[in-house]
Amino acid sequence: MSTVHVIDHPLIQHKLSIIRDRNTGSKEFRELVEEVAMLMAYEVTRDFPLEEVEVETPVATARCKMMAGKKIALIPILRAGLGMTGGILKLIPTAKVGHIGVYRDPETLQPIEYYCKLPADINDRDLIVIDPMLATGGSAVAGIQFLKQRGANQIRLMCLIAAPEGIEHVQAKHPDVDIYVAAVDNRLNSHGYIVPGLGDAGDRLFGTK
Ligand code: PRP
Ligand code: URA
Repeated sequence: MSTVHVIDHPLIQHKLSIIRDRNTGSKEFRELVEEVAMLMAYEVTRDFPLEEVEVETPVATARCKMMAGKKIALIPILRAGLGMTGGILKLIPTAKVGHIGVYRDPETLQPIEYYCKLPADINDRDLIVIDPMLATGGSAVAGIQFLKQRGANQIRLMCLIAAPEGIEHVQAKHPDVDIYVAAVDNRLNSHGYIVPGLGDAGDRLFGTK
């Protein structure tokens, strides 16, 4: 069974509360989603390996540590995953970015894939799938499935808010995928929205409602 990491750092919780607020406009919402994603990336990459290097300081040779040439790719699930991408790239600027387009059919809540463009070597990379919302889990389960079908084998999932139902779904279908979230909320409502959640992440990011 995979591990669920709840990243409850005070800075993340503070910013998430502002993100949830219905009175927070798109500009601030976008900025905060990016900031929280950047802060979360710090924890999501905590177990990535380091290697020893020698660095000439102005004073002497120092034995230091650097990331061990790890190949990383971020996979935002369109659209809302895009809102988190820039923040993570600020910390990991060499990461490649692949895109998967999945939307939830509003009637059936089933995920429909409409776009996929990935780095050629995804089987060689650590993939971080990003999406602010894990509700029924349908989109994440489908997105991860598409990645596995195309050869991916090292995948972790990063979301801002998850419903217990979404976590269960991902764990059942992809027990090898660890999940990183800033909050686990109470439940889903009858429209598949997370309660209390933050509403529709894509609409709030891009001002489409
Ligand atoms: C939202 C969200 C997730 C999905 C979560 O996307 O960004 O991708 O719903 O719901 P699920 O866990 O029940 O699948 P949406 O389908 O609204 O598309 P959008 O990002 O284009 O707005
Ligand atoms: N997608 C969202 O954007 N919000 C939810 O609460 C559930 C799915």
